[in-house]
Amino acid sequence: MLIVNDLSVFYGKIKVVHNINFTIEEGSCVALLGPNGAGKTSTISSILGTVNSTGTVNFCNQDISKIQTEDRIKLGISIAPEGRRVFSNLSVFENLYLGSAIRKDRAIADNEIENWFNIFPILKERKDQSAGTLSGGEQQMLTIARALMGNPKILLLDEPSLGLAPMITKQVFELIETLKTKGITILLVEQNATEALKLADYSYILNSGNIVAHGNRSEILKKGDLMSSLTGVEN
Ligand SMILES: Nc1ncnc2c1ncn2[C@@H]1O[C@H](COP(=O)(O)OP(=O)(O)OP(=O)(O)O)[C@@H](O)[C@H]1O
Ligand SMILES: [Mg+2]
Repeated sequence: MLIVNDLSVFYGKIKVVHNINFTIEEGSCVALLGPNGAGKTSTISSILGTVNSTGTVNFCNQDISKIQTEDRIKLGISIAPEGRRVFSNLSVFENLYLGSAIRKDRAIADNEIENWFNIFPILKERKDQSAGTLSGGEQQMLTIARALMGNPKILLLDEPSLGLAPMITKQVFELIETLKTKGITILLVEQNATEALKLADYSYILNSGNIVAHGNRSEILKKGDLMSSLTGVEN
């Protein structure tokens, strides 16, 4: 579904991601792991075209490297960004409604929101509450639910467990597991490598803008010391 080839990301003259390659098969969950500053957010931003990059991004057999972010979203790429960015003064429902702005028809959007409420019951309970007053975990659920509006083909999740208590982190990972069983293709960026490796079908480890290892969970765990130094995963 997604083939990233020879991708580099630049901020001004500074290159922070160095000629990386990775692929994501339809219906799979791929994890992109690595320490702070490794280039994870820069990499997913390049898939949406919000940063300056070179190389190619092929999505559903189409080279999207040169097209606008808006058109990439229309093709079915969606992001739940780092840091739980909700519209604080708007209600949960209004946040979701904005997420479905791609839909012209209000009735279809309402219906879609109702459908997702089955998977996010906590958001249904709080649908009229202003998003800024939700707990951190609830805001994260809202960020993910909003990204799902419009039924994207691929969901990019940037550190969904960051800053959440272990119990809530568990709920977020269970939710991602549910999305996976629904056949949604997922690129999961995480620092919680232990949990992400369990969930993902395949993982890439990024360090200083380079992919230093890739494989399924057991292949990654075989790298032992390298993994524990970069991701905190102990064998
Ligand atoms: N807007 C920017 N301008 C200049 N440099 C940037 C910018 N955004 C990121 N960088 C730099 O690019 C590198 C990669 O950053 P990036 O945010 O992609 O890392 P990350 O892996 O997502 O880190 P974290 O786990 O902390 O979110 C870092 O050295 C960072 O300082
Ligand atoms: Mg980041």
